[in-house]
Amino acid sequence: MKILLIGGGGREHAIAAAVKRSPQNPLLYTVMAKKNPGIAALSEKILIHDEKDARAIAEFAKENGIDLAFIGPEAPLSAGVSDALWAAGVPAVGPKKDCARIETDKAWARGFIEKHGIGGNPKYAVFTDYEQAAAFIDKLKDVAVKPAGLTGGKGVKVMGDQLPDIAAAKAYTKEVLKSDSVVIEERFVGEEFTLQAFVDGKNLAFCPTAQDHKRAYEGDIGPNTGGMGAYTNAGALLPFITPEEYETAENIMKNTVAAFPKETGDEFKGILYGQFILTNRGPKLIEYNARFGDPEAMNVLSLLETDIVEIMKAVTSGTLDKIKIEFSNKATVCKYAVPAGYPDEPKKDTEVIVLAENAIAGTATGPTSDLIVYYSAVYEKDGKIFTTGSRSIGVVGLAETLEEAEKISRDALDNKIKGELFFRKDIGTSALVRKRIEHMDKLRAEKVTKK
Ligand code: GLY
Repeated sequence: MKILLIGGGGREHAIAAAVKRSPQNPLLYTVMAKKNPGIAALSEKILIHDEKDARAIAEFAKENGIDLAFIGPEAPLSAGVSDALWAAGVPAVGPKKDCARIETDKAWARGFIEKHGIGGNPKYAVFTDYEQAAAFIDKLKDVAVKPAGLTGGKGVKVMGDQLPDIAAAKAYTKEVLKSDSVVIEERFVGEEFTLQAFVDGKNLAFCPTAQDHKRAYEGDIGPNTGGMGAYTNAGALLPFITPEEYETAENIMKNTVAAFPKETGDEFKGILYGQFILTNRGPKLIEYNARFGDPEAMNVLSLLETDIVEIMKAVTSGTLDKIKIEFSNKATVCKYAVPAGYPDEPKKDTEVIVLAENAIAGTATGPTSDLIVYYSAVYEKDGKIFTTGSRSIGVVGLAETLEEAEKISRDALDNKIKGELFFRKDIGTSALVRKRIEHMDKLRAEKVTKK
C-alpha cells in the first residue's frame, strides 16, 4: 500500500504519523513545499514542490504507483489537486475544487447554506460596493467582516474584538474591497468550537469536539494566528456543550454533506471542519473548512485508534457506514511553541532543541502514550532544527482528564523544548475551561431572563 500525503505542517505530521501506525505497513510518499523533518523521517520518498501544482502532483502519484492520497491543506484543494488525482485514477481524501468552495469562497458558502436550508447561518450579505456594505453595517450594528476568499484564517475581523466600533468595521470593509468581495455578517456572541468529520460523500464519522485558540497571547488577546493550541475533553463533547447542542451541530454538518451533490453535482469526500459558535440560540456556523484544522488534527489524530488507511479507503469508496471509527477516551491538550515575536515579527532561523526525542510523532521509538511532539514550520540543517516564521512545534498531552493532559503538554514545553520560543500557558487549564463553562451558563441564563 502506497499513500501520498500533500502538505508539510503540524497537521500533516499528525496525518503521516497516523498512516505509519497502520497495521498495513503502508509506504508514505509526501509532496511538501518545504521539508518538514518530522514528516520526511516517516516518508519513503519526498518531493519538495509547490503543493498547488496539480499536474505535477498527479504525475508524481502515477510514477510512484500511489494507491490513495490525503490532501492536508486548503491551498491544494483550491488549486484542484483532488480533481487531478482522481482523474489520474488515484482516490483522494480531500474534496474536489467545486466542493472545496465551502472553505475557499465564503460568499458561496453562505449562499449554499441558505439555499439548501442547512441551518446555522447568521444574517449576512455579500458586497462589492462600499456604500451598500456600509449601509448594511449600519443596519446590523454589530458585525463580522470577512474577505470572501482564502486568507489563511487571518482575514476575518469582528466588532468588539479587532474592530472597536462601526467606523473601524467600515474602514476594514473598504480595505477588503480593494482586492476581494466582502461578506458582512451579524456577530454572534458565545463560545467557539470545532467539529471535524470524515466524510465519504454521504456518511459522516465525527471526531471529538475541540476548542482552538486563535489569539497569540494568554487571555485571548493579541494578534490573530493560525491557532496557538486546542484541547479536547475525554469523550466527544467539550465541557461547555450539552448533548442537544452537539446534536444540532452534527445535523447542520449532515445537512451540508447531503446538499453538495444538489449544488455541485459532486459528493464531498474528505474532511469537513465546522467552525461553530455556541450561542444562547444554539450552535451557529462561523465558517467551514474543507480539511482538518491545524492544530485540531494533532488533538484528534493522536486519539484515533482505527486504522487511518481503512478510513481513507472508506472515505474514497463511500463505505464509511461499514466501519466503526474509534477514538481513545482521553482528553488532549495541544500547545504550539512558536518563535519569539510570532506572528508579527517572528525570530527566524533560531535553533530549536527537542529533548523529548522518543515522543516525536511516528518515530521508531515514539510516540509514548501520553506525550506526542509534532514538527510544524521548522527546517533541518546539519542535523539541527531551526525556526521559520511560523508555528514551530505542536506538543500534545494525552490523559484521563484535561488537567493532567495540560500538565503533560506544559511540562514538556517548559523542560523538553528549548529555543527562542513561546507558548500559551492558559490553553487547556482548569481556570480557562471553567471560564468557558461560566460564559455559556451566563448566556443561557440571559436567554431565560429575557423570555
Ligand atoms: N485551527 C484553525 C484552522 O485550522 O483553520
